Amino acid sequence: MSEKSNDKVRIGIIGVGGMGSYHASYLLDEKVKNCELTAVCDIDSSKLERFTGILRYSDSAELIRSGDVDAVIVATPHYAHTWIGIDALKNGLHLLTEKPISAHKADAERLIAAHTNKDQVFAAMFQQRTMNLYIKLKKLIESGELGEITRVNWVASDWFRTEAYYASGGWRATWEGEGGGVLLNQCPHTIDMMQWLCGMPVKVKAFCKFGAKHNIEVEDEVTAYFEYANGATGVFVANTGEAPGTNRLEIAAENGKVVVENGKINFTRNETPTSVFCKTCNSGFDRPEVWNVDVPYSHGGGDHLIVTQNFVNAIYNGTPLIAPAEEGIKSLELANAMIYSQITGQTVDLPLDSAAYEEVLKGLIAQSKYVKPEVQAQEMNLTTSFKK
Ligand SMILES: NC(=O)c1ccc[n+]([C@@H]2O[C@H](COP(=O)([O-])OP(=O)(O)OC[C@H]3O[C@@H](n4cnc5c(N)ncnc54)[C@H](O)[C@@H]3O)[C@@H](O)[C@H]2O)c1
Repeated sequence: MSEKSNDKVRIGIIGVGGMGSYHASYLLDEKVKNCELTAVCDIDSSKLERFTGILRYSDSAELIRSGDVDAVIVATPHYAHTWIGIDALKNGLHLLTEKPISAHKADAERLIAAHTNKDQVFAAMFQQRTMNLYIKLKKLIESGELGEITRVNWVASDWFRTEAYYASGGWRATWEGEGGGVLLNQCPHTIDMMQWLCGMPVKVKAFCKFGAKHNIEVEDEVTAYFEYANGATGVFVANTGEAPGTNRLEIAAENGKVVVENGKINFTRNETPTSVFCKTCNSGFDRPEVWNVDVPYSHGGGDHLIVTQNFVNAIYNGTPLIAPAEEGIKSLELANAMIYSQITGQTVDLPLDSAAYEEVLKGLIAQSKYVKPEVQAQEMNLTTSFKK
């Protein structure tokens, strides 16, 4: 980390489409302290027109070498995260990359390998880690209050998207442009949260349907089974074709069950731990007595600018990162493993063989016959897509 200085961190944003524009808006409104937006970059010149009074670039390599910025936020389509990120790191800039950190694990390994100078801050935009709900849940798990986790189920089927959404960007929902569908675009946050809270599984078996509900070539419907090192099981469901959909997390553990849904954390706590009761109760049908607790927490958090402020603070005075980019490889590995399991029909042992998966992905790109349909899409307000 750099020594504390009185200078503001000069930030450039690469890719000012939906997400990059949002980052620009709160930076221009000076909602993040100790920094200033000095430059933006996009290969589409029409995206730059609205930015007056700051530097504008059409080539990321030029911006990176300009001397005009100390740090960049990369908000381009996924494959470009890797090569632009490597260029930024190799040229001494701090880097905040949008999720997923790359389109596939081998690229993420290349990107992470370029982070050799640990004085450079390298973070990822996983803003759900700042949601008070999940912070409280993580504390509950880490306090040991739940006891050992035995099962985790997350149904994340409320990422509904229309055909107009998929038509809105040529890169969206293609193997070549995005590297996947719901697992790579909408669900990196949920998958990151699942592993942040419950750790990484050791085995993954998944069923992904490609273009089940939309005219796309990538997955829009996923049901996966996870196995953890302690024998715990997990089920993960994701979908962009279901309305209204569900966002429900259920964690079963030795001391009871936690359900997170509709912004509430409900803990049904066993008076006697499950395995103790199971071995010591004389009656065949009795169950442990329970307490029902609506776990209190102060609502809020979850905004991107909290992660950006944390990134700036890390540059400015060494504040620990909420989401070090290196951790972004975990959600990516899980997303890749689910697609790999569907394609191979096999249960995938983790860690995933990144080279083998890259070959599979290259094959999907090479074999693609997908032609994007022409659909008239309205200008999208991305902020309506952020989940709280
Ligand atoms: N954290 C979140 O909540 C969140 C939400 C939405 C999107 N995202 C992520 O943000 C990224 C961008 O998504 P989006 O929805 O804004 O896409 P978008 O298509 O609206 O914007 C991408 C922009 O990048 C530009 N671009 C492409 N290649 C470039 C290059 N080489 N150099 C400079 N600019 C380039 C495009 O012209 C476009 O303006 C993706 O990684 C996406 O997953 C994150």
